[in-house]
Amino acid sequence: MKAVILAGGEGTRLRPLTLSTPKPVAPVVDRPFLRHQLDLLAGAGVAEVIISVAYHPERVEAVFGDGRAFGVRIRYAVEETPLGTGGAVKNASALLDERTIVLNGDILADLDLRAVVARHEAQGAAATIVLTPVSNPSAYGLVETDLEGRVLRFVEKPRPEQIRSNTINAGIYILETRVLELMPPGEKHSIERQFFPALLARGDRVLGPTHEGYWIDIGTPQKYLQVHRDILAGRFAVTLDGAPRGGGWVHPEARVAPGAVLEAPFYVGPGSEVEAGAHLGPDAVLVADVRVAAGARIRDSVLWRGDTVGPEAEIGGSLLGPDVRVGRKARVEGALLGEGTVLSDFSRTCRP
Ligand code: GTP
Repeated sequence: MKAVILAGGEGTRLRPLTLSTPKPVAPVVDRPFLRHQLDLLAGAGVAEVIISVAYHPERVEAVFGDGRAFGVRIRYAVEETPLGTGGAVKNASALLDERTIVLNGDILADLDLRAVVARHEAQGAAATIVLTPVSNPSAYGLVETDLEGRVLRFVEKPRPEQIRSNTINAGIYILETRVLELMPPGEKHSIERQFFPALLARGDRVLGPTHEGYWIDIGTPQKYLQVHRDILAGRFAVTLDGAPRGGGWVHPEARVAPGAVLEAPFYVGPGSEVEAGAHLGPDAVLVADVRVAAGARIRDSVLWRGDTVGPEAEIGGSLLGPDVRVGRKARVEGALLGEGTVLSDFSRTCRP
């Protein structure tokens, strides 16, 4: 079976991080985000993945290439102008077999994909939309199913009296490829708002099994930070590219001085250097080549490749893009800093 990953969005909610780094290649702990999805697909026996790209396609191709390093064959469907989530699948349809897995390129789940495909096949479905439960249904588009798990209707941003379910579209689909005929070629089209309602209206069998395990959409700064906390805490299982140490991970090519304090959980990526007297954690992620000076404190933050943190600087609840410099005694709290930001000594991103 082949799979399509929808990876052409601009990721506006993650700006400025996504201005220079498209979401599919944004690091999530030790690897570009889509590698987590490729691992899921390869584990389910998918041999070929079509990555559907529109925004900085060259950056995505440079990282994933032909896929050999990731255990799958990768091809790219490039859109001249973004075609939306449905138009993007349609645009890739010439490359597909009779049944296709589709993943939103910004979700992570510990799903048994083989079981979902087997059920789709056994029940003769035209489409399967995997669902995930949420605790605040009014903020989402809900998907209602009957007792057999067949989708009955979609309810966008429901009023309290309209809420009859707590499940939302998880961005994971199985499609009989022929049903893509419903979409006009070459036009912008939404798979969730236009295509699935049209399929349902035509009377096709659409299944909505609920995934009760781990699921996250990493598309906002809060969720992007949360996925790091979840991986460090083992709520989403990943064998990280480093050696376990004191409840965290230190990559063999990182240098952590004996006098540094490491508070679990944490991840220190390759090429990083942490000086004596620095304090890392909990929930500090140094992706790669990050330098942390003596007396600096970093907690609940993700620092991308090439960042430097000056002596006695403090960073908390923040996301720092690549090559950011944080000066001596600077205080960075709840910040999102784009590539190359320079904060001079004693800068503050929060009230003194
Ligand atoms: P925001 O701008 O922050 O909303 O993020 P986004 O651009 O990623 O949009 P959204 O989260 O709604 O998209 C869901 C998934 O579909 C993401 O993985 C996107 O990369 C992908 N996607 C959205 N629009 C397109 C498109 O026009 N073409 C392709 N190929 N993928 C798309």
